[in-house]
Amino acid sequence: MALRHILTQGDPALAKKCRPVTDFNAHLAQLLDDLGDTLLESGGVGLAAPQVGVLRRVVVVLETNVGEDEDEILYELVNPEIIEQSGSQTGAEGCLSVPGVYGVVTRPDYVKVRAYDRDGELFEVEGHGLTARCFCHEIDHLDGHLFTEKAERFLSPEEVAAESEEEE
Ligand code: NI
Repeated sequence: MALRHILTQGDPALAKKCRPVTDFNAHLAQLLDDLGDTLLESGGVGLAAPQVGVLRRVVVVLETNVGEDEDEILYELVNPEIIEQSGSQTGAEGCLSVPGVYGVVTRPDYVKVRAYDRDGELFEVEGHGLTARCFCHEIDHLDGHLFTEKAERFLSPEEVAAESEEEE
């Protein structure tokens, strides 16, 4: 298990457009392993390669819409693209690279993503609710965008406290 350091807002790596992965090699597998470990350790629901300083189109997303007794599913998405979307949801969103800050962002309620897995096989995955939000948020990172650019407004410290109580 290897944890990588998560960069925070202001680091130039977070504003760059990332390049596609072309080699599905051991280096990519290591990056995916590390992103997964770092995400699970952080308690977040998604992490993109540029957040650990790697300017490649790679993200990991935790599927949290699972039954109570089921394990969460970790999606590994290489060169992901949103190929379908519908509906709309407006709600609080945060980012591991912008600690302590939450903003209200409108996202699609459903997205279908096409991506490659770590072996270079193309697949599609659907996300609803928080997972759809997370797919959009992480793919934005690959183009150098943070949720703070899309937030309609930011939550007050009181609202943040209420949100974190709900999560517990
Ligand atoms: Ni983020």
